[in-house]
Amino acid sequence: MMRLDKFLCETDKCTRSQARDWIRQGRVTVEGETVRSPEARICEDRDLVCLQGSPLIYRKYVYYMLNKPQGVVSATADNRDKTVVELLGKDKRPDIFPAGRLDKDTEGFLLLTNDGPLAHRLLAPGRHVNKTYMVTIEHGLTREESDLLEAGVEIGEKKPARAVGIQAIDETHILLTLQEGKFHQVKRMLQAVDNHVLALKRISFGGLLLDERLRPGEYRELTEAEVKILYDA
Ligand code: URA
Repeated sequence: MMRLDKFLCETDKCTRSQARDWIRQGRVTVEGETVRSPEARICEDRDLVCLQGSPLIYRKYVYYMLNKPQGVVSATADNRDKTVVELLGKDKRPDIFPAGRLDKDTEGFLLLTNDGPLAHRLLAPGRHVNKTYMVTIEHGLTREESDLLEAGVEIGEKKPARAVGIQAIDETHILLTLQEGKFHQVKRMLQAVDNHVLALKRISFGGLLLDERLRPGEYRELTEAEVKILYDA
């Protein structure tokens, strides 16, 4: 059971106050009866709720792949900076949050969802979910440095930080895959081998590749098959 105004917000992507106005104006019916009370409780799985005669389908969970641009913070609210959820525009629901964090100056794949249990599974430390980054580095890695990053380097955490894969693309670009997610982990790992990250972009997360058609700041919904891949990750 849930409140009618909350149901409306979460189906038709309106604000709570808009929902209340529409309900009070008599635009909303529940099982064919006009209901004018925003606090009325309905059964979201069973009751037929219509707005101006059109049925509304309740979706408990939503999933968006965002190509996070630089300069935006991975948070739901911030006093100073624009947040990733603000990029959702009319798709923004009050319960959506970023599943994990990318630094303000990092670009790339960030999952935005309201599915708390999935986010928890994906981010749990023992879960071993792969995250691959395209890293622009100051100078090329030697074979020894690359081996060291895969064996584990000291970054001031309890255990050495380890890459599960490193692939050189050219002199100053590598693909680096992590299963851990420590604060500034890629930058601190490269620092540990006397290098420096010039740019960082996450290109894959939990078995999903960033959709190349998304420009920085753009997003799209995940397909059902993609959500399943995340559940299986
Ligand atoms: N590692 C970093 O250093 N920064 C990120 O944003 C993600 C991983």
